[in-house]
Amino acid sequence: MLLFGGDYNPEQWPEEVWTEDVALMRQAGVNIATVGVFAWSDLEPEPGRYEFDWLDRVLDLLHEGGIKVALATPTASPPPWFTLAHPEALPVTADGIRLSHGSRDTYCVSSPAYRAAARAVAGRLAERYAHHPALAMWHVHNEYGTDCRCDVTAAAFRLWLQKRHGDLGTLNEAWTTSFWSQRYSDWAQIAPPRATQYMPNPAHVLDFRRFLSDELLDGFIEQRDLLRAANPAVPVTTNFVQGGWVSVDHARWAEEVDVVAVDHYPDDAGPGAEEQTAFAADLARGWGGGSWLLMETGPNLIYTRGRMHAKEPGRLTRHSLGYVARGSSGAMYFQWRQPRGGAELFHSALVPHAGPDTPVFREAVALGRTLRTLSPKAADAPPPAASVAVTWDAPSWWALQGPGLPAADIDYLAAVRQAHRALYRAKLQADFVFPGVSTALGDYRMIVVPQLYLVSDEAAAAFRDYVAAGGTLVVTYLSGIAEPDTRIRLGGYPGAFREILGVRVVEWHPQAPGTVITLEDGLAGATASAGLAASSGSVAFSGSVASAGLTAERWIERVETAGAATISRYADGPMAGAPAITRNRYGAGSAWYVSAGLTDDSLQALLRQVAAEAGAEPVLPGLPSEVEAVRRGDLLFLFNHGDQPATVDRVTLPPGGVRIRSADGVEGPPVGRG
Ligand code: GAL
Repeated sequence: MLLFGGDYNPEQWPEEVWTEDVALMRQAGVNIATVGVFAWSDLEPEPGRYEFDWLDRVLDLLHEGGIKVALATPTASPPPWFTLAHPEALPVTADGIRLSHGSRDTYCVSSPAYRAAARAVAGRLAERYAHHPALAMWHVHNEYGTDCRCDVTAAAFRLWLQKRHGDLGTLNEAWTTSFWSQRYSDWAQIAPPRATQYMPNPAHVLDFRRFLSDELLDGFIEQRDLLRAANPAVPVTTNFVQGGWVSVDHARWAEEVDVVAVDHYPDDAGPGAEEQTAFAADLARGWGGGSWLLMETGPNLIYTRGRMHAKEPGRLTRHSLGYVARGSSGAMYFQWRQPRGGAELFHSALVPHAGPDTPVFREAVALGRTLRTLSPKAADAPPPAASVAVTWDAPSWWALQGPGLPAADIDYLAAVRQAHRALYRAKLQADFVFPGVSTALGDYRMIVVPQLYLVSDEAAAAFRDYVAAGGTLVVTYLSGIAEPDTRIRLGGYPGAFREILGVRVVEWHPQAPGTVITLEDGLAGATASAGLAASSGSVAFSGSVASAGLTAERWIERVETAGAATISRYADGPMAGAPAITRNRYGAGSAWYVSAGLTDDSLQALLRQVAAEAGAEPVLPGLPSEVEAVRRGDLLFLFNHGDQPATVDRVTLPPGGVRIRSADGVEGPPVGRG
């Protein structure tokens, strides 16, 4: 059964509204409600005094209505009494400011008092509800990620560092502490990175982020274990955040949850939202090893550039089915009913302030019907199979957010999204691989490696094996630069990939925003129609890249070839005439190097061509540009994201429409706009 529902906060409403809620949920075909995420102060109004009666009634009511429950532990938002009694458990910023109560997430995960209180409330919930017939899963906490730099955190950080580095000598070496006289002679001298006079040490900053991810994970595991012990049959999860905030290393966390559950809020109101939906879903599927669940998205809202954007009719449906097509076991939203007050009082909901007689609720009802029809085929269908993959690595992102980098506008997330977007626009189904966590790189035809800054020796060897065995690798600038502790790999960039790529980069030339650099095709003056690169050291390279030319922004480099063939040279700018894009034959495969910050169109043209050479096939040939096609098992999902009707295989998709086909015909009602 595909799950359909979302966050439900009955504690914000009088009981008569609960009855209406359940009736409306039934009308919409909602089959799961996430309950209790922020209900700590209602569940435990005073220390050790629990009030479960209301929750009993809510769970019973939902159960009678045939609606399952993802029951949350409320530990993301400690109640006022807790923070008053334990001011030491309030988080401290890098500036040394101890935050006050008044929002949510006011906790320090290293605080023993907080951990004890969290275990206590989670334990009581487990005791009372582990065998409730409505319980489908546990939802621990909410979007783990609170940062704290207090002294208790400092002590935990030191213990973590001792485990990671063993002795101080190793830490000093890994952190290059002889730079600026930072050599530590006692563990007690090490604190979390705090406001300091000038730039902090990048290795220190990065290790703290790793520590925080692990420390938060310990907090999760503690709760998970006691919930599991109460009833091992009930899966335990927590909701991972997708987007610009990378609080924890999800690829590592994924190993500890029973279900990878993801919150995703696109932040682009235009077609970028559809591309972000595909990106988020493909990444979540990677974390989940194939299966995952969309735990939250905005039913009728995209936050974009400081403004709320109401989704156009049909877009809720398209996005929701987009996640399902890409492997989600359902579509869930934040939230069921729009609140009357509180900080998120205008956040959208399936039942908005105006009530159920609204476009969003009507669309939800129709979507519920579609999901029900789809359930028998989609719920257990295997996830989309991809012939190409993109790398993802949270520590590389953290390192590229660190101090001392060569350009202030380096943006790892943007680079990975751009690579994925290029594949998406080329209609290639992509997966993600996580070389920082697992050296298994699969048997993809092509792997794209955008800005994989940190690469271990083991990961470098795995990439070598992958290419030697016939794989095609496309590596972009800022990859393979450092070891996992941020120490630079010497001898020329991109250190970890130099051998496979057959190049040596000796200088970086980051460019001011707005500067556009042109790349030649490797055969200046040759006929574009022939599309052949013939200058010495260059190889034949036919097709759109050669004839259209390429442009780059923000980043160029001085590249020397050391075995690689030059595919494209810089045509202007400080590197004019020097190699820009290269290809190296390595074993049975090829490794491409992209030294420039290619614009979207250029990267897309390049990846399209490399993928074709590598034998990676689009999901369907000849798709119109506005149409997205995804295969999940036997089902083919076709999405028309455009404003005009589009025809695919004699099926006409209305503007904004979705068609789902299986081997034995069209599944479910056609979904169109309005
Ligand atoms: C999510 C969060 C929810 C709510 C929502 C608003 O990230 O889990 O509690 O705050 O954002 O968009």
